[in-house]
Amino acid sequence: MTVPPPIVAPSILAADFARLAEEVRAVQDAADWLHVDVMDNHFVPNLTIGLPVVQSLRAVTEMPFDVHLMIEDPRRWAPGYADAGAYNVTFHAEACDDPVALAKDLRSAGAKAGLAIDRDTPIEPYLDLLPSFDTLLIMTIKAGFGGQRFIPQLLDKVRTARRHVDTGHLELRIEVDGGIAADTIEQAASAGADAFVAGTAVYGAADPAQAVRHLRALAERAAPGA
Ligand code: DX5
Ligand code: ZN
Repeated sequence: MTVPPPIVAPSILAADFARLAEEVRAVQDAADWLHVDVMDNHFVPNLTIGLPVVQSLRAVTEMPFDVHLMIEDPRRWAPGYADAGAYNVTFHAEACDDPVALAKDLRSAGAKAGLAIDRDTPIEPYLDLLPSFDTLLIMTIKAGFGGQRFIPQLLDKVRTARRHVDTGHLELRIEVDGGIAADTIEQAASAGADAFVAGTAVYGAADPAQAVRHLRALAERAAPGA
């Protein structure tokens, strides 16, 4: 396996929404991407933030934004996030009937394209689509809420994806999201994930930047071939 250095992406879902700019600055020197969870109360029951917040945050930091859209009709909304300067825009496979077409739209709008696979969705039908994507986000919980317990069985999908990426020599980040913390990140890294979203484990810590550094060190140590 050839796994690139890990990406750690704090999720602002676990931050204090009344102090978002400060909360972003607290991790910007330690983290690689800022993970932004957009939920629409339809694709998932929860409701979070949308484009105006992303636009405002874009002005307060240089961090690359990793936007995770848990919304219906991503073909209508996703390109707006690319236009707003998101580095990567990920939408759910379950919400889109032509993922490859949307990936093309995102790339032509200047963003990287990500495909997300929720807890109950098998990965196999999507493997052949991966050359059109830059990131594959494998949920390690059921999408919708922060602070849930990590489901280790879902790492089988990460292993399958890693084998496929390596044998196909694809340039694709394999990202895990949900319940990633100091006691779970090593299993995810050794399964072949190379990008790690962490909400509670970062913003629930006394020192969020230190939490990011600790997670990265654990992921590096556990990476295959390390
Ligand atoms: C949940 C979101 C996650 C969430 C993770 O659907 O996609 O990004 O913020 O939160 P933790 O790290 O607390 O599980
Ligand atoms: Zn997320």
